[in-house]
Amino acid sequence: MKKKILVTGGTGYIGSHTSVELIEEGFDVVIIDNLYNSEAGVVDKIQNITGVKPVLEVFDLCDKGKVDTFFNKHTDISAVIHFAAYKAVGESVNKPLDYYRNNLMSLVNLLDAMQHNGIHDFVFSSSCTVYGQPDKLPVTEDAPLQPATSPYGNTKQVGETIIRDTTVSDKNVKAISLRYFNPIGAHPSSLIGEFPKGVPENLVPFITQTAYGLRDELKIFGNDYDTPDGSCIRDYLHVVDLAKAHVVAVKRLIEGRNLKNYEVFNLGTGNGVSVLDAIKSFERVSGIKIKYRIVGRRPGDIEKIWADPSFANKELGWKTLSSLDEAMKTAWDWEKKIREKKKDA
Ligand code: WQD
Repeated sequence: MKKKILVTGGTGYIGSHTSVELIEEGFDVVIIDNLYNSEAGVVDKIQNITGVKPVLEVFDLCDKGKVDTFFNKHTDISAVIHFAAYKAVGESVNKPLDYYRNNLMSLVNLLDAMQHNGIHDFVFSSSCTVYGQPDKLPVTEDAPLQPATSPYGNTKQVGETIIRDTTVSDKNVKAISLRYFNPIGAHPSSLIGEFPKGVPENLVPFITQTAYGLRDELKIFGNDYDTPDGSCIRDYLHVVDLAKAHVVAVKRLIEGRNLKNYEVFNLGTGNGVSVLDAIKSFERVSGIKIKYRIVGRRPGDIEKIWADPSFANKELGWKTLSSLDEAMKTAWDWEKKIREKKKDA
């Protein structure tokens, strides 16, 4: 019998890639999504890639009644991977209550319903933002957490705390928080990827939109940091590599191979890449020169951070397989594909 995994936010960027990997690994997938930041048609794309169309239930996890109704209907769920959340750092500063309500109420409703329905295995979408600017690099999971610099980041910190407390109070509950570094790129089929709403906040969609001619120029936020070329350093990983980590994490829980009831893993490549190096990588794979301008620092930016992924390498048997150039190439292929489609429409 195939095990069924509930993927919340499964039509979103990382959720859709993870749904593909789960199906390809022989799991059944049921998705809950409110389509706030994604489209229902994503399940058809997942079907195009895998041959299987996941079940999609469209509702908001903040609606406790609907969450309970869902679990009454789907009684055979083995584990939950929870992506559904708002994720725009800048927006969260202007709408903190929306972020706290949406990201935390949904989490509480979900954990509550899981407990009531005897579902114990939970994988959470966390973020390297919980570290702030670490004293030591690369950063390991036991590094002290810094006060969050945005309401969004705070929802990830508080979310991790809620989950950890739940595993302490109920020894049946097993959970893994996955702290993502900077996911980029798209599925090699170019059938799924990220649709940023409005002007992209993140670097790679801004680069690809500039290359496509949708933006006049890329603004580089600061070249006076204490880094080799003065621009900020991040750890960019291919979204398909990131998606695969969720499959190994959920299997670890289902098969009871976890060391503790609550575990945390960094998911990154272990390589720090500057903004200027990321642009060079894009230029190499696309053959397009990016028009850019150095402007002032972006408030809240961390100077440099990259992962020590050795705990995930050892314990999950997971590591990133794609290079930065390969990931950039898929980001560019995806950008061209979605723009071509818009032209045809
Ligand atoms: C990367 C670098 C910018 C845009 C994101 C999420 C965060 C977490 C990690 C999930 C920075 C620079 C960017 C631009 C630029 N993920 N930049 N010009 O800030 O590392 O964080 O990923 O939870 O929550 O927000 O990613 O892609 O915005 O920036 O120079 O137009 O690119 O200053 O150095 P960030 P990013």
